[in-house]
Amino acid sequence: MLEQLSLAPSDPILGLAEAFRKDPNRNKINLGVGVYKDEEGHTPILASVAAARKRVLAAETTKNYLAIDGSPEYSRAVQELLLGAGHPLRASGRAVTVQAPGGTGALRVAADFLHQHFPASRVWISEPTWANHGQIFRLAGIQVQTYPYFEVQTNGLAFEAMCHALAHVPQGDVVLLHGCCHNPTGVDPDPAQWQRLAELLATRRLLPLVDFAYQGLGRGLRPDAEGLLLLAAALPELLIASSFSKNFGLYNERVGALTLVAANTEAATAALSHLKISIRANYSNPPAHGAAVITTVLQDPQLRAQWEGEVQAMRERIAQMRSLLVQTLMAKGVRRDFSFIERQQGMFSFSGLSKDQVEALRQQYGVYIVAGGRINVAAMTRRNMEPLCAAIAAVL
Ligand code: LMR
Repeated sequence: MLEQLSLAPSDPILGLAEAFRKDPNRNKINLGVGVYKDEEGHTPILASVAAARKRVLAAETTKNYLAIDGSPEYSRAVQELLLGAGHPLRASGRAVTVQAPGGTGALRVAADFLHQHFPASRVWISEPTWANHGQIFRLAGIQVQTYPYFEVQTNGLAFEAMCHALAHVPQGDVVLLHGCCHNPTGVDPDPAQWQRLAELLATRRLLPLVDFAYQGLGRGLRPDAEGLLLLAAALPELLIASSFSKNFGLYNERVGALTLVAANTEAATAALSHLKISIRANYSNPPAHGAAVITTVLQDPQLRAQWEGEVQAMRERIAQMRSLLVQTLMAKGVRRDFSFIERQQGMFSFSGLSKDQVEALRQQYGVYIVAGGRINVAAMTRRNMEPLCAAIAAVL
């Protein structure tokens, strides 16, 4: 039976990381996978995380299972971070949060839940979007459609085209939106545009699913949640898949959450009971350690202030790298206007480099970026900027 199988294509992002590891080039630069690097090129364990980890390990007395939906303290901490401390949804009973193994795990639980209970609903994803989105929903059995998002001429949001497409989506379908720091483009709606999207989705009776993986890395922890809050205010129902991989640097602990907002407490409670079935069938119950670390940081005022400072430092370093990239390209004599890179948010920049240029960067210069031209700005440093820009100038 198994001999019928031919080789699957390698993953467009994590497969690139594998290829990078195997490349003997000593000057290679990895700007593929979305992982933050400090000025020394390391992906550090945050000091707040290291302190919380010590406390968690010292206090741990058992390795017993968590509940199917994870730790209730963690779920409360997640909701507080997403919505803000005093948000009325938190006390309303309309919002339920389940712990999940990373943002990807949360998306997969959402996908299984949607397919199980709303088999006719399709999921609409932006064009372009994170390379894994389509496959997560398709493999869960859901039909996937796209809506326009990025405008090549302006390197900005194709807002009118996006609204036009969403205005024709049938009632009951699901629209996947990136809460902030759109992956791969770095282009987000502004608050007025979020408001219009919220009204449009409400009028069309569409269900938004917000992928929220970069809170704090765009404009700040609260401003990055602005779109989410506008959706929550305008719509009776909402799904949020959130991740702590990036803003806590907890990539390999796989910590995320799926939050579901329903029109009333009864509907939220019923939905939770079904989410638990999706979880039980997928991985039974979530891993404990990373979530315990996050709960400790978010609940302790000192650790929380330290963590917020560390998120701010990451955000500011990324912004500096954006400016330095634009300046260094100019200094290398590149004529093309790359100033749009400074206007984009989050870890990524959609460079506009062609498939051949991306390939030449890798083959000739050992510079790894994702095939569509997505560059991880968060892995640039003062040290790799010169050789990187020289390579880009050469392939242009
Ligand atoms: C990325 O887009 O590079 C990250 O979200 C990592 C991943 O899992 O693809």
